[in-house]
Amino acid sequence: MLTALTEEQRSVKEAARDFAQNVLKPGVIERDSKMIYPKDEVRQLGELGFLGMMVDPKYGGSGMDTISYVCAMEELSKVDNSCSVIVSVNNSLVCWGIETFGSDAQKEKYLPDLAAGKMIGAFCLSEPEAGSDATSQSTTAIDQGDHYILNGTKNWITNGGTSGIHLVIAQSDVDKGHRGINAFIVETDWDGVTVGAKEDKLGIRSSDTHTIMYNDVKVPKENRIGEDGFGFKFAMKVLSGGRIGIAAQALGIAAGALELSIAYAKEREAFGKPIYKHQAIGFKLADMATQIEAARLLVYQAALLKDQGKNYDMASSMAKVFASEAAMNVSTEAVQVHGGYGFVKEYHVERLMRDAKITQIYEGTSEIQRLVISREIVKKGKLYAEIAY
Ligand code: CAA
Repeated sequence: MLTALTEEQRSVKEAARDFAQNVLKPGVIERDSKMIYPKDEVRQLGELGFLGMMVDPKYGGSGMDTISYVCAMEELSKVDNSCSVIVSVNNSLVCWGIETFGSDAQKEKYLPDLAAGKMIGAFCLSEPEAGSDATSQSTTAIDQGDHYILNGTKNWITNGGTSGIHLVIAQSDVDKGHRGINAFIVETDWDGVTVGAKEDKLGIRSSDTHTIMYNDVKVPKENRIGEDGFGFKFAMKVLSGGRIGIAAQALGIAAGALELSIAYAKEREAFGKPIYKHQAIGFKLADMATQIEAARLLVYQAALLKDQGKNYDMASSMAKVFASEAAMNVSTEAVQVHGGYGFVKEYHVERLMRDAKITQIYEGTSEIQRLVISREIVKKGKLYAEIAY
């Protein structure tokens, strides 16, 4: 099923690699340690077209396919996952969600600035009491005729303090359960939107993660996405694509950790030879590489299914669960290969190990991905390969 990358896809990968190694890498340790938001780097990513990669050029986007997006995510994530999560949320949750399900007026109003990086978006689904169980929304959006009144609290919101719009998921009719949930585009400078303190995190420390409070926010009806009650399906569909982006991030973390480990293992000597010549290290590198290539196949397969207009819900869950576990394993082994040097910031692998953990949690935990996969294989009663091809 997989074919070689096209010339365009290769050049996107090359451009992202160049940006990651030359622009992101020099300041990444300091930004991570001090939790400095990568403002200038995000501006440059916007100018280079990395923030609206799949958006139609008529809205100012780069008009690329999902494989190109995955290639860019991998290269950026080898170095700076605070930047790559911003790229992922803006591209696959916010831009794709608005472009695929928004009205013409919403697309015209919001996509050009989002695609150019002049404005960043956030996706607000998780709540203090609703993480994996996403239908249990406590945030309410009550219909008032020509507008809704929004009240509630959202947790762990990536781009929370730096975004111009939020896509907010809220319950409008509790009696209808998930069919009463709506999705809204909320401008962050509207009255009643409050950004809470920035989270101090284990990894992706320079990304901007906040609690957000909505207090009697007046949301015009034209800012609802889709029909009344479409909000939960909107969230699920958007997350299916988002999970491909996070899977690509995990692939990048693993591949970046392996690149650093190979370079170190060739340079570092022990017992009279480079450490890669010792089986203990050589076999580790082999296992790391094998997990990465398996993850890559799943990530590319999910992206390809999406580009071909086929169902990719299960493929994206498989890609995310496998790639994120590979990222955790490979980055932990990378620290081990580096020995004492791996435990200090200067060698980059400890940061990749800390960053890897979030890929098993956000946009659906590994447990939720397994739930999606198990339900799908039982429902279809077929092996995945038969379903996909
Ligand atoms: N596409 C379309 N519709 C879907 C769907 C999909 N992929 N998945 C489910 N649905 C529909 C179902 O068909 C059903 O609709 P009907 O009743 O009309 O048929 C409805 O949604 C409810 O589905 P379920 O009965 O399966 O709901 P559930 O409560 O049993 O489970 C779940 C759903 C898969 C567990 C879901 O709650 C889920 O994905 N949870 C994880 C949430 C998540 O990923 N959060 C991440 C936060 S965002 C983030 O991290 C962003 C960031 O900042 C980086």
